[in-house]
Amino acid sequence: MILEVDDIHSYYGLSHVLFGISLSIAEGEVVALLGRNGAGKTTTLRGIMGLTPPSQGSITFQGDEIQGKPPHAIARMGVALVPEDRRIFPDLTVRENLAVAERKPRVMAGGWSVARVYDLFSGLEKLDGRKGGHLSGGEQQMLAIARALMGNPRLLLLDEPAEGLAPLVVRRLAEQVRMLKEEGMTILVTEQNLKFALELSDRAYVIEKGQVRFEGTAEELAKNEEVRGAYLAL
Ligand SMILES: Nc1ncnc2c1ncn2[C@@H]1O[C@H](COP(=O)(O)OP(=O)(O)OP(=O)(O)O)[C@@H](O)[C@H]1O
Ligand SMILES: [Mg+2]
Repeated sequence: MILEVDDIHSYYGLSHVLFGISLSIAEGEVVALLGRNGAGKTTTLRGIMGLTPPSQGSITFQGDEIQGKPPHAIARMGVALVPEDRRIFPDLTVRENLAVAERKPRVMAGGWSVARVYDLFSGLEKLDGRKGGHLSGGEQQMLAIARALMGNPRLLLLDEPAEGLAPLVVRRLAEQVRMLKEEGMTILVTEQNLKFALELSDRAYVIEKGQVRFEGTAEELAKNEEVRGAYLAL
């Protein structure tokens, strides 16, 4: 397993929001973390990244305990988070947004460059000189993912990448995530929309009120009407 989250509990101040979340991801898998508004999806990703460190439980990445490490150290170890609000630099061009995130590849790693992300996301190349603030929502999402790749992560955390995008754009995004999987990337993606999640993931966890209510393959979830009806928006 590249990532193992074991029984984490998280708080915001005195408010207890994660109650023993456990999940694991094998190298090269795309795993969906599903649940309604406020279920704890973002908090789980922030816990892995070290932004909202869990008060209990353990998180192991590539065999190393990362629980308790600061976010920059976790990023350096190879975890990248694309947050819900994307945080594109509006005054920088697409190329500049990518260039500022570039990092030397680890020895032996493939290494992402502007040219290689343009190969994968052909739509971005056409926008090379456009300012981040002048991109559509779908273009910004593509750029946000591409920018995360520039840091050569081993594990990509995507927080509701499809949110606010038109159905056609969501379909393109699903294709791009699948292409990334083919490149060998390991991805944990949160989502409220079941259809999008099933389209791109191998396995899924469904959470509610900070607890895991279901785990299984995408096919098992697709067939499980009870879980879908109880914990997900359809
Ligand atoms: N900064 C914060 N301070 C206090 N409570 C918070 C904070 N952020 C989230 N919460 C609470 O923690 C719980 C889990 O929130 P979280 O954002 O992880 O859910 P989510 O599954 O990502 O929801 P959404 O689909 O709306 O993004 C919710 O009850 C939420 O109100
Ligand atoms: Mg969220």
